[in-house]
Order: sequence, then structure tokens, then C-alpha cells
Amino acid sequence: MDDGDLRRDMVDACRRMNATGLNQGTSGNLSARTGAGFLVTPTSLPYDAMEPGDIVPMGFDGTYEGPRRPSSEWRFHADILATRPDVDSVLHCHSPHATTLACHHRPIPAFHYMVALAGGPTIRCAPYATFGSQALSDHAVAALEGRRACLLGQHGMIALGPTPAAALALAVEVEALARLYLGALALGEPPVLADEEIERVIARMRRRGYGRTVEGDDAEGVARPR
Ligand code: 13P
Repeated sequence: MDDGDLRRDMVDACRRMNATGLNQGTSGNLSARTGAGFLVTPTSLPYDAMEPGDIVPMGFDGTYEGPRRPSSEWRFHADILATRPDVDSVLHCHSPHATTLACHHRPIPAFHYMVALAGGPTIRCAPYATFGSQALSDHAVAALEGRRACLLGQHGMIALGPTPAAALALAVEVEALARLYLGALALGEPPVLADEEIERVIARMRRRGYGRTVEGDDAEGVARPR
């Protein structure tokens, strides 16, 4: 895919992210790997006004080109893409239900089998650190180990994928799980599925191509931990 197509896919995913209510205002950001580095959304630009030419090309050392300044969160985009060769796109959003759980530093346990889409028996919550900081990036990389999504304490969530559209699809699933979990908590802490059951679910999802949208069109299955 050339740079232009990727930029258009990124703007499209960002606009859908806000249009579907997953995110609001200029919160959130999105990146996608290119040959030498990555493309990232510019900081503080409303998604409705964002055009493909506004997307910022960056190197992993923090250098960037063009008139727009990169997202304040370029560090975690760079660090995740650098440490996770299994993914090519990183999406961050402040979706309401996932962020509500993150405000209580509550990970999402295997209360529902679809938690397996994120790659394991929990969707972890990274400790809080100031937005844009190296500490936040370090926490996010650790919380994502063997996973494709995590919550960020008192902040939001991150979802990974092979493409911007796939990362967005996983973010939608994580937000739906967060909403269900909050509902289930109204009756008390729900029971969780055993780790072996989640392993079985992951294997079955892979065999059947279940949840293919979060893995992209070429994939055999979903949510392969490293
Ligand atoms: P940017 O506009 O700089 O990408 O910041 C939005 C955000 O959500 C910070 O965490």
C-alpha cells in the first residue's frame, strides 16, 4: 500500500472512531507503520478537519517531517511499533466505558469469552503516568505484552492491529466488553472463565477465522500472542 492510501485509511478510521461515539473531540490518536518509520495523527486537530496531508511521517527517534506537530503520544506509538513486529497500527482512544474502568484501574477479566480477542485471559490496565511521557509509554508496552489491547489508568485504552481499520475494530470490541463488564458488576463481581478455556477459545477463533476483522483479511485467525 502506498503512503497516500495509508494516510486515507488513517483519516477514515479516525473519523469513524468519533462518528461511532467511541471517542470524542480531539482525544485519541492513531499510527501506522511505514517502511522506515511510521505515520501518526497530528496533535490537537479535529478529525473532521483532518486531511491525509495532515498525517505526520516520523522516525523511531522522534524526528518528523511536514508542517504539523505529531501527536503528543508519539512515544508510545513509536515504542509499541518498535517492540511489536506482529502489529502495524496502534489506536488510542478515550472510549467512555473502557475509560470508566481505567479510572478505577480495573482490568477486564475473562468474565466473557470475547476477552480472548485481545490475546489472553485479561485486558490489563497500565498504571497512570502523564500523557506524552516516557513513563506512560513504558507502562503501555508492559501492559500490552502478549496482548493486542490494554487500558491506561485514568486515561483511556490502546488497541493494536495489522491495519488502522483492524485496530479500530478491536477497540470497538474492547469498549463493548467494558460496557458489558460494568453492567455485570451491578450484580457483583461476575465469575471468570479459566485460563485453559480462554486458550481453547483463542485456538478455536484461529481455526475458524472468528473475529477476522480485528486481525485483517490475510490472517488465519485472531489475537495471536507473541
Ligand atoms: P494528541 O491530540 O496530542 O494526539 O493527544 C490526544 C490524547 O488523547 C493524549 O493522550
